[in-house]
Amino acid sequence: MFLVTGATGGIGRRVVRLLRQQEQPVRAFVRLTSRYSELEHRGAEIFIGDLRQARDIEKATQGVKYIISTHGSDGDALSLDYRANIELIDQAKANQVQHFVFVSVLGVDRGYEDAPVFKAKRAVEQYLVDSGLNYTILRPSGLASNLLPLAEQFRETGLYLLIGDRKNRSSVVSTDDLAKMIVDSVKLTEARNQILPVGGPEILQREDIPQIFGRIFNREPIVINPPVFLVDGVRNFIGLFSPQTQTALGTYRTLLSNEFFCKKDEIANLERIFNFQLETLENFLRRYLAV
Ligand SMILES: NC(=O)c1ccc[n+]([C@@H]2O[C@H](COP(=O)([O-])OP(=O)(O)OC[C@H]3O[C@@H](n4cnc5c(N)ncnc54)[C@H](OP(=O)(O)O)[C@@H]3O)[C@@H](O)[C@H]2O)c1
Repeated sequence: MFLVTGATGGIGRRVVRLLRQQEQPVRAFVRLTSRYSELEHRGAEIFIGDLRQARDIEKATQGVKYIISTHGSDGDALSLDYRANIELIDQAKANQVQHFVFVSVLGVDRGYEDAPVFKAKRAVEQYLVDSGLNYTILRPSGLASNLLPLAEQFRETGLYLLIGDRKNRSSVVSTDDLAKMIVDSVKLTEARNQILPVGGPEILQREDIPQIFGRIFNREPIVINPPVFLVDGVRNFIGLFSPQTQTALGTYRTLLSNEFFCKKDEIANLERIFNFQLETLENFLRRYLAV
């Protein structure tokens, strides 16, 4: 039995789909408010709970052989990115789980002090490595599926909001490719006990993204490009009312003002381990947008 957390998220949903296509038994950890009917139709066992509750994690992990942690936090890094994963690892040990796959983030080891999600994930990585469990830690850069709503907006308006440096590089990964790597990690010996940076096959500058949208929809992009310090202004203003949101926005600020891309040899290594060719962002978008 596979336990998948974040099963209704961009990554988790695809992981559950793949596992069910392979007719693997899957327990999907969801919230009562989550949109989980698709997972149920695909034959996943639905476990309703809250990852902030240790008791729910303890129940959900009973009898599982593999754990795949893909949940995100929406601001509460301490409870979800940190504590929930530590609890999952402890329960994995107690249940003699055979393999634990953790979705971390690229750049987690750069010591960004102002980014709670990065700090939480770094601490979890360390805890997992020291746990004695078999593990695979995947550190993705940006996910292609995040760009789908922006592409739909672009289709309607031709507008693209690009905050900060246009030249910053990233290697956006196909969310479907990432899901495949997650699922295959538990069976490939070369992925066992590895920490792998994950990106797409090309290094893009951020200004390439509206150009790709422009090619797909055959319209000239109008790029609105405010500087990052505008985010600082908004952040400081929000901090007057909600210090917690101000802290959470530190992760967003870090993502906007740094580069997140994989080197060519890291991509070649991924393609070798997982034995498939990674798809480009343009290919991913065309498949989903049917253009
Ligand atoms: N997005 C990126 O570009 C990116 C890049 C690098 C790494 N990552 C990492 O990849 C992981 C997944 O990202 P994603 O974009 O797939 O996330 P996502 O679409 O935002 O999904 C987050 C998932 O976590 C679940 N969740 C949140 N709070 C929960 C709680 N209290 N109890 C149970 N479930 C809860 C959500 O459930 P609901 O459906 O109920 O909201 C949802 O299924 C995250 O760890 C993220 O940090 C993301």
